[in-house]
Amino acid sequence: MTAHAADPHSYADTGKFVVRHVALDLSTDFEAHRLAGTAELTVEQVDPAADELVLDTRGLEISAVHLVEASGRERVLAFELAEPDPILGARLSIGFPHCCAATSQMRIRIAYRTSNEASALQWLEPSQTFGAKPYLYSQGQAIHTRSWIPLQDTPSVRVTYEARIRTPPGLVAVMSASRVEGTWPAGEHAFAMKQPIPPYLIALAVGDLRFQALGDRTGVWTEPSRLAAAAREFADLPRMLEAGEQMAGPYRWDRYDLLVMPRAFAFGGMENPRLSFISPSTVAGDRSLVAVIVHELAHSWSGNLVTNATWDDFWLNEGFTTYLEHRLVEELYGERRAQMESAIAYGELVRTIEDLEKAGRREDSALHLDLAGRDPDEGISDVAYQKGRWFVSFLEERFGRPAFDAFLRAYFDAHAFQSIDPPTFRAWLLAYLKRPGAPAAPAAEIDAWISQPGLPATMPKVATGVFEGVDMLASDWRAGRVATGALPVKDWIPMEWVRFLDQQPADLADDRLGELRSTFQLGADGNTEIALSWLELVIRTGYEPAYPDLERFLLNTGRWRLVETLFSELARTESGRALGERIYAKAKPGYHASIREAVERLLYPEPGRAASQ
Ligand code: BES
Ligand code: ZN
Repeated sequence: MTAHAADPHSYADTGKFVVRHVALDLSTDFEAHRLAGTAELTVEQVDPAADELVLDTRGLEISAVHLVEASGRERVLAFELAEPDPILGARLSIGFPHCCAATSQMRIRIAYRTSNEASALQWLEPSQTFGAKPYLYSQGQAIHTRSWIPLQDTPSVRVTYEARIRTPPGLVAVMSASRVEGTWPAGEHAFAMKQPIPPYLIALAVGDLRFQALGDRTGVWTEPSRLAAAAREFADLPRMLEAGEQMAGPYRWDRYDLLVMPRAFAFGGMENPRLSFISPSTVAGDRSLVAVIVHELAHSWSGNLVTNATWDDFWLNEGFTTYLEHRLVEELYGERRAQMESAIAYGELVRTIEDLEKAGRREDSALHLDLAGRDPDEGISDVAYQKGRWFVSFLEERFGRPAFDAFLRAYFDAHAFQSIDPPTFRAWLLAYLKRPGAPAAPAAEIDAWISQPGLPATMPKVATGVFEGVDMLASDWRAGRVATGALPVKDWIPMEWVRFLDQQPADLADDRLGELRSTFQLGADGNTEIALSWLELVIRTGYEPAYPDLERFLLNTGRWRLVETLFSELARTESGRALGERIYAKAKPGYHASIREAVERLLYPEPGRAASQ
């Protein structure tokens, strides 16, 4: 493995030992909200003089550590769990007696249980699921895996894994791995992941789950009552996978399945390999929100195959993925839809950069961040996604599309199953640019994208003409030249709705808002993207009659982007903040731990807020 600068979000010292394989044997306790069992790590000794293996943990209770010798003989090892750091968790140091430190590969078995507040795990009450059954899922990204597995929790390390998961009878476990068929006792489920992955991609979900195939290597898992709707919504999955392979090279994970989650799921989607976890808010009934699926699928190349070495370069995962998403949407759903998504996302990026400037955080609008001492979740913004995407689009512009497609293939092939940092990326790109026929892209231009805040001089032109018609209608409607009932909404796709609503000013009168609301049944239900834009407008205008819808929406979803967008809109004014606090008090128990922290950062921006809430 290439040498990287140390990861500021891990205690691991990969110059001494590297974990290569993880074998889990865990039982799920839905009453106590704990996992308990063992993790056996296969560890390679890199430095022959090293006598201490350091792992990341958070909230784990460790009961014993054993060295398992090749003969099967076991030896007790001494260990020490340090005082926890609020961001990184607790360093676990395991000492090796001199006799044993010389073997190059060792198996270390750790017996432990998780905290009932493990940051990776969300235990849902039956009332939070579609079928009123208990549900558990894990979320590793960015640094949560350490709260359910003791290991080197840095994306600069890759591991294969296997797992034996014991669940209450009647529940099904799924993982980001292949299912190992066999005659296991009731309630036992076995898995193997043979491709090496960064630890944040180890993932587990347990619930009342069913599967339906969509083609030979794709399918969908979800609760029984949602299966038919999910299978209909994502019927394009085989086509998406083929288009992805055309663009980025062979799909190297064998299967691609989706797991459609309960509403509390913290993300639109999470790219767990072989099995993306997907928010049910994407099941719109008309396939209009499948860009999320395309995005998670694209991570099969950018992110899962070629991985950011540390969370300081989250843009290497998300920027490339957002670029691929855009290309695939264009290919599968047409240029018009792709242009609309670009135009909306660009508007959001410009606003994000302005907001960061206003907040005195201009430096956070660079692609490469220095997140040492900060929670890596603070680096999640449109900058990584959209500025990252426009950087890749800038390269495409320079190369021209066919040449750039060859570049992309070469990039994924050259770095497959490796982690990458900006110096490695930069050096590889600059070398590629020296090939005969390659375009000119001076290092200074590339560095401006990666290291400078704001948008660089080489920012491509974003076509916004695709919204001319809607923009005209928006101003005509506002001026009373077009009646509410005469708006041609039947022809609109959700993005046109979003644009129409986003164009409305903060001083739009209550009776006009009321007309929109009653004519088009705008509220907490229906298409999520339309509801989100409507509720943003409700907050912007202070339209009180719709506050109950806002509250219902925020109680009904745990999805980061929806929750974060609305609470940050609320946090813009004092009265909004007060309303936000009231809603948050009710919604908080249903949110994943990392979402709670994000909301608390918005509502209570002073340092130390999280501890006092
Ligand atoms: N990997 C991200 C989700 C994530 C980011 C988890 C940071 C933890 C920390 C995923 O691929 C993603 O970007 N999801 C988006 C949807 C996408 C279409 C932009 C989301 O959840 O909204
Ligand atoms: Zn992503």
